[in-house]
Amino acid sequence: MDGKILVTGGAGYVGSHVAMALADAGLVPIILDDFSSSSRAVLPRLSALAGRTVEHVEADVRDTAALRKLFHDHPIAAVIHCAGLKGVGDGETRPLAFWDVNVGGTMALAEVMGEAGVARLVFSSSATVYGQPESLPVGEDAPLKPNGVYGRTKRAAEDFLRDLTRANPNWRIALLRYFNPAGAHPSARIGEAPLGRPDNLVPLLCRIAGGGFGELAIFGSDWPTEDGTGVRDYLHVQDLAEGHLAAIRFLATAPGATAFNLGMGRGWSVLEVVRAFEAACGRRIARSFVPRRPGDVACYYADPARAEALLAWRARRDLDAICADAWRWQLAGGGY
Ligand code: WQD
Repeated sequence: MDGKILVTGGAGYVGSHVAMALADAGLVPIILDDFSSSSRAVLPRLSALAGRTVEHVEADVRDTAALRKLFHDHPIAAVIHCAGLKGVGDGETRPLAFWDVNVGGTMALAEVMGEAGVARLVFSSSATVYGQPESLPVGEDAPLKPNGVYGRTKRAAEDFLRDLTRANPNWRIALLRYFNPAGAHPSARIGEAPLGRPDNLVPLLCRIAGGGFGELAIFGSDWPTEDGTGVRDYLHVQDLAEGHLAAIRFLATAPGATAFNLGMGRGWSVLEVVRAFEAACGRRIARSFVPRRPGDVACYYADPARAEALLAWRARRDLDAICADAWRWQLAGGGY
């Protein structure tokens, strides 16, 4: 492909793995990040892994002047938009920031892409847009009923992007709805680096197994699932990153906006994840049961058939690989 692929939020957890997958495929990523929730230290690691300098621009995705300069200075062929605020709990206390960055940031980016004549966009969305699913597995045409601020900002950004393609058929947009990304690059040089005590299950298991983070509080033992604990569709962040590459290729020929579920297409319970993680790290995870976490659902997993059919993409790395790579990353320090 001629030109560079702009990865907004490219220093973050998903974005850094996307940048790496692009470089591995012989494409040229350029990262935009303001490092508000990521580390500059990811950049030399990406360059070392890629065997060439991975370029970056430091700016906020809402900064249209900085975006205009970026599009002026670099030949951009397509954009993968990962920059945004995430966190279900965090969104509830900071609605203005979440709407401004997640929706306003997407609008600012689209404005400048339009001016620059760049029409291919892959958007980081989330399975959170579905809320409590009515049936399983969850297909892309399931109703979008997010039950929190974070999910509503993702749905609004999706709506906005669909409106763009309706008004101007030049736009080609993929809306990627991630299920539960986990794991790290097998090199253990890049991975998820949450600040403080992580909220998500796999990074929390890493910290607990590493010591100093107490025990795992399992949110509920009375869910209507096989072992009573919550069931989710965990997918390896490397598989997720490769899904972005497949989406970029798909957009070479596909007009309009298309949503894709990126998941394994099956679920694992909290206890199954704990056991897989114990096997990977060779340590016992201390745990106890506590009441359900507000807002949690019993079970959801993706129907990834559309991604398989149209993107020729399927998550290939299993839960054991997710746990092994997450633990290797933790052993290497689990951060930057
Ligand atoms: C997984 C399972 C918990 C922590 C969230 C967002 C979603 C997406 C991914 C971005 C659940 C249980 C967890 C703990 C536990 N993010 N658990 N004890 O809630 O499925 O999804 O992250 O887009 O939008 O909602 O992920 O990792 O928090 O939880 O028992 O201390 O582990 O109840 O069943 P979740 P999670």
